[in-house]
Amino acid sequence: MKKRVAILISGGGSNMEALVRDMDESHPAEPVLVLANNPNAGGLAKAEARGIPTACIDHRLYKGDRPAFEAALHSALEKAAPDIICLAGFMRILTPAFTSRWQGKMLNIHPSILPLFRGLHTHQRALEAGMAVHGCTVHEVTGELDGGPILGQAVIGVRAGDTPDDLAARILPMEHRLYPAVLKRFALGERGKLAHLGG
Ligand code: GRF
Repeated sequence: MKKRVAILISGGGSNMEALVRDMDESHPAEPVLVLANNPNAGGLAKAEARGIPTACIDHRLYKGDRPAFEAALHSALEKAAPDIICLAGFMRILTPAFTSRWQGKMLNIHPSILPLFRGLHTHQRALEAGMAVHGCTVHEVTGELDGGPILGQAVIGVRAGDTPDDLAARILPMEHRLYPAVLKRFALGERGKLAHLGG
């Protein structure tokens, strides 16, 4: 039986697409739901075009009532009965009340070499810190923001004159390689850390 994967997005869903593209016939997992918190998320149309069931729980309708939003998210996920949940460009912070219900089944990709630069604006902060290297991390999601066990990392060199957009442009393609590689191993029950060393 293939592992059932739900993917949560907020925007274009390029990481979702990379994950879905990799889940072919021979893959130990299959996409069963793409769920967005934003009805304008471009990734919803991309998932629909691939015949993947989609849903949208618009967080704005919950007017700051985070528990109600997370309850709606949880029930949409329960319907899909995923074995694994991948946060992929999902921009809402999830409380420990929610993450604890999916502990050990939820992954996230973050655009920094964690534990460095948890939170937002990671490329800007890496440049301000004078980093010689930067990159992205796939980790298990726990109640601690960007703080769960690291499963894989991809690293690039920072070049003179790089802007945050330059870093994002070089790291995003590495995310698209790292996340599918980590998901496949996670679906097979492998827990060794993956290191992708890039340009
Ligand atoms: C990107 O900034 C990526 O680094 C982070 O989420 C953002 C959008 O990703 N993981 P996606 O194209 O929606 O997957």
